[in-house]
Amino acid sequence: MSFKLTYATMFDPPAELHERFDAALVEVASTLGATHALHIDGVDITAVETDTRSSPIDERRILGHFPLADRTQAQHAMAAAQKAFAGWRATPMAERTRLLRRVADLIEQRIYTISAALTLEVGKNRMEALGEVQETADFFRIYADDFERHDGFEHALPDDPLSGFRSRNRSVMRPYGAWVVIAPFNFPFALAGGPVAAALVTGNTVVFKSATDTPWSGRLLADCLRDAGFPPGVFNYLNGHGKDIGQLLVEDPHTAGITFTGSFAVGSRIVRAMASGAYPRPCIAEMGGKNACIVTASADLERAALGIIRSGFGMGGQKCSALSRLYVDAAVADTLIEKLVEKMAALRIGDPCLRETWLGPMATTNALRNFGRYIPSLEDDGSSILAGGQRLREGDLEHGYFVAPTLAEAPADHPLFREEMFLPIVMLCRVRDREQAMRLANDSPLGLTAGCYGDDDDVAWFFENIEAGVTYANRPQGATTGAWPGYQPFGGWKGSGSTGKAIASFYYLAQYQREQSRTVV
Ligand code: SER
Repeated sequence: MSFKLTYATMFDPPAELHERFDAALVEVASTLGATHALHIDGVDITAVETDTRSSPIDERRILGHFPLADRTQAQHAMAAAQKAFAGWRATPMAERTRLLRRVADLIEQRIYTISAALTLEVGKNRMEALGEVQETADFFRIYADDFERHDGFEHALPDDPLSGFRSRNRSVMRPYGAWVVIAPFNFPFALAGGPVAAALVTGNTVVFKSATDTPWSGRLLADCLRDAGFPPGVFNYLNGHGKDIGQLLVEDPHTAGITFTGSFAVGSRIVRAMASGAYPRPCIAEMGGKNACIVTASADLERAALGIIRSGFGMGGQKCSALSRLYVDAAVADTLIEKLVEKMAALRIGDPCLRETWLGPMATTNALRNFGRYIPSLEDDGSSILAGGQRLREGDLEHGYFVAPTLAEAPADHPLFREEMFLPIVMLCRVRDREQAMRLANDSPLGLTAGCYGDDDDVAWFFENIEAGVTYANRPQGATTGAWPGYQPFGGWKGSGSTGKAIASFYYLAQYQREQSRTVV
């Protein structure tokens, strides 16, 4: 690769990026329809049952046949991870970080083909796909660097000279054991790779289960780990239904810890399950968002409109960071709405394999069903749909899951201000002042991301009062989305996250370890 994808290149991509992505699409097309395997104890293993998956762009396009692990295979993966633990735990830091950096190199070497696969599997546009894959490589490097910077999280403590016997004291952070990573469908590569990297560098072994809707990305990540040369059993890859394989891994008493990324409903069940059993075990649950943006009377409305569009409708509102509630000062609401509607009309929606497409299809049939359920509810109760509101089926879109980005105005107590929709629907409510906006924004059991547009005073007040883990002010690149590792630590408050420690933050790796104080005389 002659340049590295960064936050800047994401917004101003060079021509070479497009050429290489187009070539990768052709290369990946020739692999469609293959049968894929699990990866357990250092070996690729086929499954008896497979799931044939098609592309949300056109469901007649078969992506491949993906393995569905049975219970015996899931137990085999867990046993392999346990068996490998003692060896991996004792592996020197230098070797663990070398392997992580090797994975990062492999991901970067394969960035175009992996991104092309992501576009076909999830329907992301090319910049979103490339961004996700680069972010994953960054996670592997950042966690390797971080572990070294913390010196493996070991440190000496003062000697204690009690009773004439001098004790020498140390604090050592130790891994837990076989760690389960359960990934979501919306960032199936990055939000699998990040936790896998964190668990591995800290000395845990891993059983990774991809989201059932996105096994291809899971398998491509597994390929990078396999090819990096980890010892057998240190990393294992499963795919299977949450209710079956996911449940088994959660209930297995040998599971030492879990990182789950997904819905609040499933995440809180997993947190409860991990808190019970013989003793409580760690569970990092990154759950949903119902993210709000406040636009005050002093806001730059052009900037606000840009950020709102990007965060509300980018990737079809399926980012956990997506903007879904908009509280606008009544004095500027009409002007803002006018700008939003005008910009929405200009969005390029269609096949995400095309260079110019900004918004592709929804990732799953489930999203399509939900859209078909929520829109009539808005039409029936007198809310006004200001733009969008329909499924798109013309021409080439007929066989894909395309919907129009939708802006709707409704009273603050409308149920869709509460429901986690995961759709390109932004609910707007006019407010009389910023205090009312803040009260409404914080009136949610979730608190992942939030945004504000306003003058310096409004911004300072926003940061002080908003209940959310990832916050942005006056950002045209996204009102609530677009965190990049190393720049914006990413973690939720309240029901959006179980630990209050963010991804890629100073505190993240410590969660994968338990402290042991060591005193010797
Ligand atoms: N990093 C992405 C964002 O902030 C997804 O969570 O939008």
